[in-house]
This record gives sequence, C-alpha cells and structure tokens, in this order.
Amino acid sequence: STVTYTDHAGESRVVEATVGDSVMETAVRNGVPGIVAECGGSLSCATCHVFVAEADLASLPPMDEMEDEMLWGAAEDRRDNSRLSCQLTVTEGSDLHVTTPSTQV
Ligand code: FES
Repeated sequence: STVTYTDHAGESRVVEATVGDSVMETAVRNGVPGIVAECGGSLSCATCHVFVAEADLASLPPMDEMEDEMLWGAAEDRRDNSRLSCQLTVTEGSDLHVTTPSTQV
C-alpha cells in the first residue's frame, strides 16, 4: 500500500504505508511535511486536513459526524474532497493520493 502526498507547492512524495496505520500516522512517521496533527489523532485539532484525489474518494468510508464537524474549523476552507487524515486508514493494496493545505507547514 502507498500514500502519495502532494504539498501545496505541488511537490509529491510517495510513501510505503503499513496497513492499519492512518494516513496521518504514515506522514508523521515518514517525515512528510504538510500534516501537523497537533492532537495526535484524537479528532480535536483539524491540523491533519487533506484534500483527497477525486479518483480515490469513492474507496474511502464516509466520514462520521465528528470529523464533519471538525472540518468546519480547519484553517484552510474545506472542499468537497476534504478529509481529516487521522481518520483515514491504510488498507491492503490501497493507493491513496492526498494534497496538503498551505496552512499546515
Ligand atoms: Fe487532530 Fe486529526 S490529528 S484531528
């Protein structure tokens, strides 16, 4: 499984991800910039905001109410493809592509 992170300037990094880790944890463990994750994944900071590639959206489970609420407080305005990366779990064979906001550096 891989996660491809593209920063706001357009630079991409492809990371080998461990199944069961979140997209946020995968970034932090690999030193990928653009995901701050102040709260460490407890769904209370919204500094792990990412924009998911359109093609990958359908493969993700829908967000729950709490994630939806937190996204309204994200520093960079949410879009239709916004998710909190601490809530996205890497699954077997998954190949996710996310872009990080310029507000998370
Ligand atoms: Fe804080 Fe995701 S890491 S909400």
